Amino acid sequence: MFLTKINSKYFFQMLILAIVLLTRTVCNAQFSKDQKPKNLKVLPSNIEGEELKKIMQGFTAALGVKCNFCHDDSKTADFGPMDYSSDVKKEKQVARTMITMVNNINSDLLKKSREIESDIGEVACVTCHRGASHIDQLEDILFRTYKRGGLEAAMSRYNELRKRYFGSYTYDFRDHTLLSFSSKVSEQGNVDDALAIVLKNCELFPESSPSFTFLGDLYLKRSDNEKAISNFEKAVRLDPNNRFANGQLKKLKDLEKK
Ligand code: HEC
Ligand code: HEC
Repeated sequence: MFLTKINSKYFFQMLILAIVLLTRTVCNAQFSKDQKPKNLKVLPSNIEGEELKKIMQGFTAALGVKCNFCHDDSKTADFGPMDYSSDVKKEKQVARTMITMVNNINSDLLKKSREIESDIGEVACVTCHRGASHIDQLEDILFRTYKRGGLEAAMSRYNELRKRYFGSYTYDFRDHTLLSFSSKVSEQGNVDDALAIVLKNCELFPESSPSFTFLGDLYLKRSDNEKAISNFEKAVRLDPNNRFANGQLKKLKDLEKK
C-alpha cells in the first residue's frame, strides 16, 4: 500500500502541508480580492477589492450578522466556495435597495440640509441598524413576543436580549423600556401582567422614581389605595419634583379625609 512505502515523519509533514493549503483555500474563498465582482448593480462596477471588502465588513458590523446573512452559503456545507454573485437571498436584494436609499439620503436630502446648516454628517447603515438586522425598539419586540407567547415568553426574551446586548448601542435597557412595555400590556386590560413587569423594573432600578409611579398607578387600577399611596410616596422620596406622583398623592389623601 502507498502509506507503507513512505516513512511516518514524511507522511505527517505532507498532512500538515495539506491542511495548511486547504485552510488557505477555504479562507480565500471567504474573500478573494483578485476575483472581479460579476454582479454589482448599485456599487460602482470598477470598485477596488479592498474597498469592497471594507464596505461588506461594514455591513456585517452594522447589522450584527455574518456574510451568509446576505450571501448564498448553500455550497459551503461541503467546503465549496461562497457564491457572492448569486442573488438568491432576499436579504441581499433588500440590502441593494438599502444601499440606494442611503446614497439618495446622503447625496440628495442631506445635501439640501447642508445648504442650510453646513455641519451635517452622513447617514450610514449603522445609523439605523445599530448592530441588528431588524431595527424595532426593545419594547415593541417584547410586546410582540407577549402577544404571541404571553408574559413568561416576553420576559425570557428580555433576559436573553439583555444578556447579549446590554451595554451595546442596539437596544435601550434603561428604566423606561419596560415601563412602555407595561403600558401597552395594561392598555390591553391585563393589569396583573403589567404589574409583574413593573415590579421587575423596580427590582432592576430601585432608584427609578418613574417605576414606582407606574407601580402606584397600577395598584390604583386594582383599587388597592394603600399600596398605591406607599408607592407614590416612594416615587416622591426618590424625586421630590415628580409632579404626577405628588398630584396622585394629594388626591388620594384628600379622598381618605372624606
Ligand atoms: C447586509 C447584506 C450583506 C452582507 C452582510 C454582506 N454583503 Fe456582500 N454584497 C451585498 C450586496 C447587496 C452586494 C451587491 C452590491 C451591488 O449589487 O452593487 C454584495 C456583493 C458582494 C460581492 C461581489 C459579488 C459579485 O460577484 O458581484 C462580494 C465579493 C461580497 N459581497 C462579499 C461579502 C463578504 C466577504 C461579506 C462578509 C464580510 C459580505 N459580502 C457581507 C450585501 C451584503
Ligand atoms: C434610514 C434607516 C435605515 C438605514 C440607513 C438602513 N436601513 Fe436597512 N432597514 C431599515 C428598516 C426600517 C428595515 C426593516 C427592519 C425590520 O424589519 O425590522 C431594514 C431592513 C434591512 C434589511 C432586511 C433585514 C431582514 O431581516 O430581512 C437589510 C438586509 C438591510 N436593512 C440592510 C441595510 C444596509 C446594508 C444598509 C446600509 C447600506 C441599511 N440597511 C441602511 C432601515 C434602514
